[in-house]
Amino acid sequence: MTTLTAADLYPKVAHVIPSVEWATMADDVDAIMRLKQERNAVILAHNYMTPEIFHGVSDIVGDSLALAREAIDVEADVIVLAGVHFMAETAKLLNPGKTVLIPDLRSGCSLAESITPEDVRALRAAHPGVPVVTYVNTSAAVKAESDICCTSGNAVKVIESLGVPKVIMIPDQFLAANVARQTGVEVIVHPGACEVHERFTPHDIQQVRAENPGITVLAHPECPPAVVDEADFAGSTAQMVKFVEARRPLKVALITECSMSDNVAQAYPDLEFVRPCNLCPHMKRNTLARIRHALETMTNEVTVPDDVADRARLAVEKMLAVGK
Ligand code: 13P
Ligand code: SF4
Repeated sequence: MTTLTAADLYPKVAHVIPSVEWATMADDVDAIMRLKQERNAVILAHNYMTPEIFHGVSDIVGDSLALAREAIDVEADVIVLAGVHFMAETAKLLNPGKTVLIPDLRSGCSLAESITPEDVRALRAAHPGVPVVTYVNTSAAVKAESDICCTSGNAVKVIESLGVPKVIMIPDQFLAANVARQTGVEVIVHPGACEVHERFTPHDIQQVRAENPGITVLAHPECPPAVVDEADFAGSTAQMVKFVEARRPLKVALITECSMSDNVAQAYPDLEFVRPCNLCPHMKRNTLARIRHALETMTNEVTVPDDVADRARLAVEKMLAVGK
């Protein structure tokens, strides 16, 4: 198989990366493309990766749900998860025979860090018999204490599948509040929040609308409900992409992490993107240099202890069965 070079790949990023900037990335891009073949590796990249990773070197892209589903079918020996730690753990849970690497082991998540297995056990003890629905943005150890997982893309379906009037929905208080409003199911919450999405305010959207009459505003459901109320649509990162693909709004604002707009703008060069975005410092730890280093040295492996993995996998697999 021929190895694609940075020159071959440039058209995939040309709308959002100037050629002089791409030239500075070419050495890392060429090395990564070669290393992927040598190591029999694939790169799974979240929608928040910068365009040189997302459109340039990755093999599979998507939201948390898509990356989990795709990880199951990976046949290559090595998965590089360009995203954050919980995503790499989920890939390892679902395809345990593979070596899963992450470009920077410090790529955490404010939601995952907000809750421990002990917190989940305390919530269960306080609300006996109420099922625990856990957002995938958590450690495998927290998933292991849960009945079922969800992502922002399937949270409503997962909650509705349980057919109960009340759930413990952790750890994102805003996702839980948004889903409660959509489903009518009562939610017991944990006070976690995404440090990127909790910062948006209704005023941000009002200002964008005042400055851009006719604009379509899409918000992520990790935003507070008052922000979602101001948007035209709320959905996971993949659902935002689908919305843009189907409706082609001439001017659009994606109320989420900054790289989303760059990546969607590359795919839809005729649309105008207004960017009141926030950066995720954890996602931004992923760089070409770190991907290259992980593949060169085969370091930054993500593993999950067997006893935790078996219980966590069950909660993730129950979630995946809901969409089928
Ligand atoms: P989704 O891509 O599943 O919408 O998740 C957003 C997110 O913040 C992941 O960290
Ligand atoms: Fe976590 Fe928010 Fe960053 Fe996603 S964007 S990894 S939810 S802190």
